[in-house]
Amino acid sequence: MTVFQHDVLVIGAGLAGMRAAIEAARNGADVALVTKLHPMRSHSGAAQGGINAALGEEDSWESHAFDTVKGSDYLADQDAVEIFAREAPGDIIELERMGTSFSRTEDGKIAQRPFGGAGFPRTCFIADITGQAILHVVYEQVLKLGITVYQEYFCTSLIVEDGEVRGVIAMPMITGDLAVMQGKAVIMATGGLGRVYAPTTNAIACTGDGMAISYMAGAPLQDMEFMQFHPTSLKDSGVLMTEGARGEGGYLLNSEGDRFMGKYAPNKFELASRDVVSRAEQTEINEGRGIDGCVLLDVRHLGEEKISERLWQIRELAIDLTNTDMVHEPVKVRPGAHYAMGGIKTDVDGAAPLPGLFAAGECANVSVHGSNRLGGNSLLDTIVFGRRAGVAAAAYVKQVASKSQISEAALAEDQNRIQQWMATKGSGGERPAVIRGEMGRMMREDLGIFRAREKLDSALAKIVELKGRFENVRLEDTGKVFNLDLLSIFELGGMLDVAHAMVAGALAREESRGAHTRLDFPERNDEKWLKHTVASRKEDGSPQLDYADVTMTKWEPEVRTY
Ligand code: FUM
Repeated sequence: MTVFQHDVLVIGAGLAGMRAAIEAARNGADVALVTKLHPMRSHSGAAQGGINAALGEEDSWESHAFDTVKGSDYLADQDAVEIFAREAPGDIIELERMGTSFSRTEDGKIAQRPFGGAGFPRTCFIADITGQAILHVVYEQVLKLGITVYQEYFCTSLIVEDGEVRGVIAMPMITGDLAVMQGKAVIMATGGLGRVYAPTTNAIACTGDGMAISYMAGAPLQDMEFMQFHPTSLKDSGVLMTEGARGEGGYLLNSEGDRFMGKYAPNKFELASRDVVSRAEQTEINEGRGIDGCVLLDVRHLGEEKISERLWQIRELAIDLTNTDMVHEPVKVRPGAHYAMGGIKTDVDGAAPLPGLFAAGECANVSVHGSNRLGGNSLLDTIVFGRRAGVAAAAYVKQVASKSQISEAALAEDQNRIQQWMATKGSGGERPAVIRGEMGRMMREDLGIFRAREKLDSALAKIVELKGRFENVRLEDTGKVFNLDLLSIFELGGMLDVAHAMVAGALAREESRGAHTRLDFPERNDEKWLKHTVASRKEDGSPQLDYADVTMTKWEPEVRTY
């Protein structure tokens, strides 16, 4: 049995994971990053448009906090939002000191572009490669601090003993032999779950693994019904076309050439919050004013110079993937499954209700995004709450007496699962891709922008059916080295679980709030539903739903218009 020992294990090496690891190491912990990818392939690198902070003279953290709370449709916990907005400027300055080359204004200040739902231009950026640029800088810090990186290690489960997290079981993809990774604390930072939908803006690796293994180990998932549909994903592939395109002044047009957002958001037009813009687009498409199931994103009037300076990546993507040069033609876009507002329930220091477990970034729910996240707030979330989780985990491990002796039970359980799957080769069971494909289609059709009881009932029945069929899943590759077939089975099991929690939350929440639009309950209902849903996994794998209060500080719910 291979055993590795560290104080703090950070699972996932995107921005939240690396930022957490840096801070835990700076606070004296022996830290390791465990990641199923090379850190530079993390999905944070796909974040294009920017990172929010109130830096402008006219702007303030209170204004950022208010916009975030309003954007969340009042479901965000306001104590967490206050911390988030207050600490943002300091974190941007620190990123700059680490070496982030933010785009600048003429007079040399950090440039900020307008983003949806924001009262001021508040989104700092590096052209349209913001996530990628910051990822490089943060990785340099990881290397500088000598943090151990176990790359291409897939975590199969959390080790919990005597009610406390003691580490993870992980499979190095290169050998396929499970290892015990002992840690006094584990920080989950595995990102999102977009791949439960098909298509999605998310990378192939975004399969919700950290949420799934935490949920399996007893950590609750909060507000899972809220899935963000980004207004501008490319036709067919679903690849992201940054909100920065609208921030720089781009228009959305329907088949009649109308800038239709004026009808839905007369004050903000294309820069309303994402839930509002995506609903508007889908309404235009459903009412017959779409083009090939899309609307048009038009940036021609910005001119080639600006497009080449600030939006060069999406111009290249549109040329490569759709043969459309945005300098000369509008590009077809539609709402795409983009971001999970829900995740592992944590406090403002990233601590989950399961002792020893912390979480940060998209896999966590602090909650600062409530039922709808504002663009530019996700990168900020990774940095602010990654840092805070790193500090808290380093402090936590100081009070954990010693590394306990790990029983081999957790390891044996995962080894048994693998052996059972290995024995299915050549059997009549189904291939994981078939089940996964059906799940993705069902989630798109039944748990999309517009929802209603009938479809949600059928979604629930489908998830139960797919989970039943998963019991007979068939593994074809029984090799040990880089067994992606085995990986896909592990991922699928977790995806079915998190999708189940999403459907259960969506069925329960009989109101429309943020990204969750119930055609059968079209109004927000603060009296009944100003509360979080909290899903715990029952022994039979189904979710048990409970509820938690929303923390209010300054901002009473108001009618939300843009
Ligand atoms: O549109 C974008 O660039 C995406 C940013 C985000 O999700 O925050």
